[in-house]
Amino acid sequence: MPEYALGSFLSRWLAGTRHELAASESKTWPLAALLGMADDADRARWEGLGLGYTDPCGAAWLRARICADYVGVDAEGIIGFAGAQEALQIALRVLAGAGDHAILVLPCYQPSELALIGLCETTGVALDSNEGWALDLDRVAAAIRPNTKLVLVNFPNNPTGKLIPPAAFEALIALCRRHGLWLVNDEVYRLIDRDPSQRLPCVADAYERGVSVDAMSKSYGLPGLRVGWIACRDAGLVRQATGLKQMASLYLAAPSEVLAHVALGRREQLLARNRRIACDNLGVLDRFLETHAESFSWHRPDGGVTGYVHYHGNDGVEAFCARLALEAGTLVLPASVWRSSLCSLPTEYFRIGFGRLGTAEAIKTIASALHRRAA
Ligand SMILES: Cc1ncc(COP(=O)(O)O)c(C=O)c1O
Repeated sequence: MPEYALGSFLSRWLAGTRHELAASESKTWPLAALLGMADDADRARWEGLGLGYTDPCGAAWLRARICADYVGVDAEGIIGFAGAQEALQIALRVLAGAGDHAILVLPCYQPSELALIGLCETTGVALDSNEGWALDLDRVAAAIRPNTKLVLVNFPNNPTGKLIPPAAFEALIALCRRHGLWLVNDEVYRLIDRDPSQRLPCVADAYERGVSVDAMSKSYGLPGLRVGWIACRDAGLVRQATGLKQMASLYLAAPSEVLAHVALGRREQLLARNRRIACDNLGVLDRFLETHAESFSWHRPDGGVTGYVHYHGNDGVEAFCARLALEAGTLVLPASVWRSSLCSLPTEYFRIGFGRLGTAEAIKTIASALHRRAA
């Protein structure tokens, strides 16, 4: 079993953390705040909630609310899972197996890579760090083989925050259509972005073989609900994924279904607060990176709540992040957490999360670490 690099890093450093810049989700909401947003129907649903088994696909009323965000997918095309991770793993298991080939755009969340390479031969295509993390479509096209089944992407991307332009996304869909490939987009950071005019459509809306994976975890800041989903237009995929789910988490937790329904009923309120926090934090980060341009640079994240900072110090990013964790209790994730077994990726980067409060104080500790290095 390959090492789960993020898990190892966190288990080494998390206990001493005083400033958490390693998180990848928006600030969360207390249960009481969420319940306070419930309308009368949801409040009655919550108070009268039975704790029996639920619908294997997710409650019909929850799926109806989820699909309101899609234009081409109805409630039958939504299946609820225990978070995006389970949704992704099961979608990939339905779509690819022994003898197949897949293309994975990197860098990405390591469990996605581990899931794919455990299923079939996989080619990694790296976003171009010299071109603001652009996706080179020619490289995707060159990786296609006769047995290629799917392309897996994650836009907005974790860790870089990259959102490719809508025209590039259309071209990627056209390429997949020409070759009959599934296109799976991990869309957990959708709707948290800087310029709504550049927002990508859900891939399940835009492409008949598109599979959208999403969750309450990141943009909404509710990972503890463990509610994620697949959205797609293919009845066969829905049937098979539901079958596999029955051998995994089986059902969504009944309280989580109600709470996700409440949160999605207040979708705009939740997202507006989370976008505001991300935007304020980005302002702080912009000023910090500008002041320390000799040590850091980045492609400003287009979406999501993480960015990938290029570190220019001679001590190297791994040593810098370890020192930051040890001396200041400030946690950022060095490039070793994002390494891939499929292709080499740039090494002198660290991921910084900016979805929570307290970013300005945490950033000060990075400045102090730089000064100590210089002293
Ligand atoms: C890109 C990406 N996809 C999926 C997940 C898993 O999300 P969930 O907590 O909903 O399983 C994560 C979590 O960090 C992530 O960053």
